[in-house]
Amino acid sequence: MDTAPAAVLADRAAYVEAVEQVRVAAAAYYGDGTSALDDDAFDRLMRGIALYEEAHPGDAVAESPTGQVAAGAVAGGDVVHTIPMLSLDNIFDHDGLLRWGTGLARRLGREPQGFHVGPKIDGLAVAAYYTDGKLTRLVTRGNGTTGEDVSHAIGTVDGLPDTLNEPVSAEVRGEIVLTTEQFDQANRIRAQYGEPVFSNPRNAAAGSLRATGRAYTIPLSCYAYTLLPGPDAPDNDAFAGRTHSELVDTLGRLGVRTVADTPVGTRTLRDLDAARDYIDTVAAQRDALPLGIDGVVVKADHPDDQHDAGAGSRAPRWAVAYKFPAVEKTTRILDVTWATGRTGFLAPRAQLAPVDIAGVTVAYATLHSPGMITKLDLRTGDTVTVRRAGDVIPYIVGPVVALRTGEEAPIELPDRCPACGGEIDRAQERWRCLQGRACDLSRSVEYAVGRDQFDIEGLGPKIVERLVADGAVADIADLFTLTREQLVAATGSEKNTDKILANITAAKDRPLSRVFCALGVRGTGRSMSRRIARHFGTMTAIQDTDTDGLQQVEGIGPEKAAMLLAELAELAPVIAKLAAAGVNQTEPGPPNSSDPDADTPAAPLAGMTVVATGSMTGPLADLSRNAVNELIERAGGRAGSSVSKTTGLLVAGANAGSKKSKAESLGITVVSPEEFAEMVGAYLG
Ligand code: IVH
Repeated sequence: MDTAPAAVLADRAAYVEAVEQVRVAAAAYYGDGTSALDDDAFDRLMRGIALYEEAHPGDAVAESPTGQVAAGAVAGGDVVHTIPMLSLDNIFDHDGLLRWGTGLARRLGREPQGFHVGPKIDGLAVAAYYTDGKLTRLVTRGNGTTGEDVSHAIGTVDGLPDTLNEPVSAEVRGEIVLTTEQFDQANRIRAQYGEPVFSNPRNAAAGSLRATGRAYTIPLSCYAYTLLPGPDAPDNDAFAGRTHSELVDTLGRLGVRTVADTPVGTRTLRDLDAARDYIDTVAAQRDALPLGIDGVVVKADHPDDQHDAGAGSRAPRWAVAYKFPAVEKTTRILDVTWATGRTGFLAPRAQLAPVDIAGVTVAYATLHSPGMITKLDLRTGDTVTVRRAGDVIPYIVGPVVALRTGEEAPIELPDRCPACGGEIDRAQERWRCLQGRACDLSRSVEYAVGRDQFDIEGLGPKIVERLVADGAVADIADLFTLTREQLVAATGSEKNTDKILANITAAKDRPLSRVFCALGVRGTGRSMSRRIARHFGTMTAIQDTDTDGLQQVEGIGPEKAAMLLAELAELAPVIAKLAAAGVNQTEPGPPNSSDPDADTPAAPLAGMTVVATGSMTGPLADLSRNAVNELIERAGGRAGSSVSKTTGLLVAGANAGSKKSKAESLGITVVSPEEFAEMVGAYLG
């Protein structure tokens, strides 16, 4: 996990300016949820300020944010928090966690009696007051000492019931967020009412919690993380002596949704080594979660440890936030360009002022469709929230409307296809060249003859272009009925033509996964094609299925299933031509699978995720990465692309780099390509 370096503040002037920047940004962030500084930049400045103050204690200014909750930026409200709502100190890597643990043990004079770990929800803190089991008041964190009464929002927050399962008086503290689904819904509602969309779920939560008098309601969610005795509770020690884990359990029993109800759940752990595993697992799942989290909160679980560790003015010493690198940043749209893809769809792309997101410089983001541009009311020059999560292409979440200067320009939508200049079909949300796949047929054919598809050597881009220009190839199936004359005309060589004809004949026997991949079905690449082919076994079975059937394949949801069906219908004539030309339409199953009673040897990689890296050698030397992945899957394994705790085996070829060292550090078995070939050779025959 990378740690962004602290900002280097060279002198007092730089220090004072940094204090001011943080205060302005924090005021915006905790105020209406907009901030010109993203999380990383904010954290870097905060750490720079703290380092400067450590080195020059005499220079520290009174308004410094280092000792204050919410960077001292928020005006309090009318409601006093009897127990202050503190912030948390941040750490950014495992070393930081170990240092925090050592410091805590030193302070306690003993090892803490266990830890509680849970996701750090990226939203806004609230205190919900229950009197005799009834939700009576909702208060924001404010400046930690006093908050704002937002009781008008009661009834709009999923997870905070109006009535608890028991008539207790208590204060529930938790985080208000919009789930991904709620965020999409919120922006649909805003667009309907002609209001600017929210730039991210956090802004949406901040704005909606405070808003009164809106003609519509934005549904919110709460995930509670702790329970305190209510200020008017007769027995003020109601929850005293309970561990943090017990408090979270109690919340659940009372009917409140808690951090334990997120898909990553919470854990009670003996030591910080186990916390490390949990943190890695949460980090790996983060992108797939239905709500935003920005780290893991690690807490001493036992009340004695909490009591003895105590708290500073800003944060408790018994808890710490392990922050993940930000996957969202703000930057500016410099320009928008349009291109037509292989399948004829128009793809708008935003050129961005380059921004580092979790260690990768992002200079472009996809805009998906003209509909998205209008729905988000995006303009050139806008400051936007950009998200880069996992392997997904960076995309724009929304504009930060509050930062508009008036200089922004509307994004022009094209009136002709950017590739061929022809008409555009605007019937669907995503616009398409009226010629569809034929708009750039050469590219489709080049893709189809590629190494991981039909693998027809000798059919280079120039020859393909010529065949298309001559009218010899009008779709990819025509490749298999090319005549010698047509090929000689395109290549100018009898000898090459002989070779190509032999390669075309060989290509008819490719497994279904490759034939399917060659079709260039929108939304499917090599690994999805393998999954589909393996699942259905034959092209006919794929064509005969419906959206439910397609959704049985891992990674296909309802939207993708519908799109695939439309694609399959469009490609039906080509598929029929391929079959007529004798191109294979079936996927070879595992050995002996045709005879269920046979004594089938167990697949050597059954249930195991296997990653291949480096250049393959020995018997695998000539195989592409895709072909190695095919072998892994035929031997019952799952082909992975990155190494994590769930990886079972790494095949490390020559010059294997960081994946090999990561696997070794995680204790994952590493084998050479030769050893791997031996493992699967006997099984695959
Ligand atoms: S415990 C004294 N647990 O993060 C302990 N806080 O950056 C204080 N937060 O103020 C909080 N998820 O608003 C805790 N699982 C979690 C949390 C969590 C999100 C928020 C909370 C806190 C802020 C600190």
